[in-house]
Amino acid sequence: CGIVGYVGPRQSQAVLISGLSRLEYRGYDSAGIAVIDGGGALGMRKRAGKLKVLRDDLAAHPLADGTTGIGHTRWATHGGPTDGNAHPHLADDDKLAVIHNGIIENFSELKDELLADGFTFRSETDTEVAAVLLGREYRRAGDLEEAFRAVVSRLEGAFTLLAMHEDQPGLVVGARRNSPLVIGLGEGENFLGSDVAAFVEHTRNALAIGQDQIVAITPGAVTVTDFSGNPVEVEPFEVTWDASAAEKGGWSSFMAKEISEEPEAVANTLRGRVRDGEVVIPELDGLDELFAGVSRIIVIACGTAAYAGQVGKYAIEQWTRIPVDVELAHEFRYRDPVIGPDTLVVSISQSGETMDTLMAVKYAREHGAKTLSVCNTQGATIPRESDAIVYTHAGPEVAVASTKAFVAQITALYLMALHIGRVRGAISAADAADHVRELEAVPGKIAQILEREQAHIEQFAGWMADTRSVLFLGRHVGFPIALEGALKLKELAYIHAEGFAAGELKHGPIALIEPGQPVFVVVPSPRKSSEMHKKVISSIEEIRARGARVIAIAEEGDAAVLPKADEVLRIPLAGPFFEPLLAVVPLHIFAMGLATAKGLDVDQPRNLAKSVTVE
Ligand code: G6P
Repeated sequence: CGIVGYVGPRQSQAVLISGLSRLEYRGYDSAGIAVIDGGGALGMRKRAGKLKVLRDDLAAHPLADGTTGIGHTRWATHGGPTDGNAHPHLADDDKLAVIHNGIIENFSELKDELLADGFTFRSETDTEVAAVLLGREYRRAGDLEEAFRAVVSRLEGAFTLLAMHEDQPGLVVGARRNSPLVIGLGEGENFLGSDVAAFVEHTRNALAIGQDQIVAITPGAVTVTDFSGNPVEVEPFEVTWDASAAEKGGWSSFMAKEISEEPEAVANTLRGRVRDGEVVIPELDGLDELFAGVSRIIVIACGTAAYAGQVGKYAIEQWTRIPVDVELAHEFRYRDPVIGPDTLVVSISQSGETMDTLMAVKYAREHGAKTLSVCNTQGATIPRESDAIVYTHAGPEVAVASTKAFVAQITALYLMALHIGRVRGAISAADAADHVRELEAVPGKIAQILEREQAHIEQFAGWMADTRSVLFLGRHVGFPIALEGALKLKELAYIHAEGFAAGELKHGPIALIEPGQPVFVVVPSPRKSSEMHKKVISSIEEIRARGARVIAIAEEGDAAVLPKADEVLRIPLAGPFFEPLLAVVPLHIFAMGLATAKGLDVDQPRNLAKSVTVE
């Protein structure tokens, strides 16, 4: 869910709505705001549906404005996406409003307690329980901060909670446990947000709040304490994102814009990290000892980030000679993994907030492993909980399904692998320099694909708008690319899609092939990987013989695929580890093109959220 809070001299509704529009990628099944108006009365409006529904409603039936407000955009957990279940939720006396992200695990016990006390509820949400509890506590304490401390100490689970009371205008309080919240510092005004996107158009000065901390903002002051009220140190940071970077500009969608930024995502992730052919990662300075003692690497992530990890595995093992496992974060934690001080757990997360990944990182730390975070978002929780960080510099990614962050993640993993490989003497300076050169050539090659192939791929995707099922095959580093191609198609176009290792085809999936079945095949370079190329061509033969319609992603000049494929999407020549950074681009374009042809919203696919901050 997306959260925004404001206190200052401005009328807050516009600030809240524009903050929410920048946070909508965190959830978009309902939205709401609450404002304390000039007369000191609390007003609220909330609507099921995307933010536009709320915006239109406010335009048609204005809400009295005021300078203190909170807003929320929801991704439903407890209770369906209805007007009533949308946030904010009010206390029983309608004087106090609460918004919440996360899950309050002990909400039914608390609800029973309140029911026994005679309270009634208007929604099915866990959040309303917190609101009613806070209302009761406020009447006892007569002070919002004190009441808030008493309430958050009783909550179990993960949450970010914001509250305000009409008797104390000019004050918004917030708390966080395992769920994101940052402060934006303005001049005579202050902001709260689930991430900096909430306020980056107003201020770039931010404060990161730690776990189990409470913040109170007024127009002139910010105080941060622990749950018992003791003051704590907070870390200031400057937001380097430009507010306009998170704007759609003239593009038809954020996804179209972000795919077009894939070359820059790679280039910016490399920038400042290569000197005379050597990888230099300033963030990893002084950590040589940490890498020297590592005998095993486990990469954990979810979704697209996990596929970036699977691509990374091949290069990390090759260049560092350290064995690598890749595991979905939510599976890792619950199998009692064998880890210890010689294990390096590398997490990958665009948002840095994915709860499954965060919990796995915490688990790894608690069990003695070293942790390194590959992350795209400054001040996010996962990097803050890790021993080391390598930021991807893909810039803000707004479309819910990840594209440019994926290529940036692979780039960052490669830089990390070359760094560790050099520290441990596992790779020669000359070989590392060759790989660096290949990496540096990637942005130009992606740009070439966009320039030469995009229009063709989009047109081709349009022809396939009625397709019900698509299969993707790949081998070696092409295998995770097949998985990513299938995931993107599911996410954006709601088409059943599966990715398989090409070699596994004959062990089962080939049974799915019937005449006309579209199959994308990621074909390795005949020049750089001739053995594998032959094997993949054999796989193509096998499916062709059974009537499949083959769409090959192949190197320019690969003559062998031409007679065997119904369609060829061309990528420039690259060494084996660098091909995935190219081969994925046509697949991203294809999924976007097909979803667009079906008339779907590619930025906000149904049921998804960009940053899933619940387990
Ligand atoms: C969600 C998004 C995916 C993303 C995954 C991991 O499920 O819809 O696009 O790959 O989370 O997100 P992260 O922020 O951790 O990379």
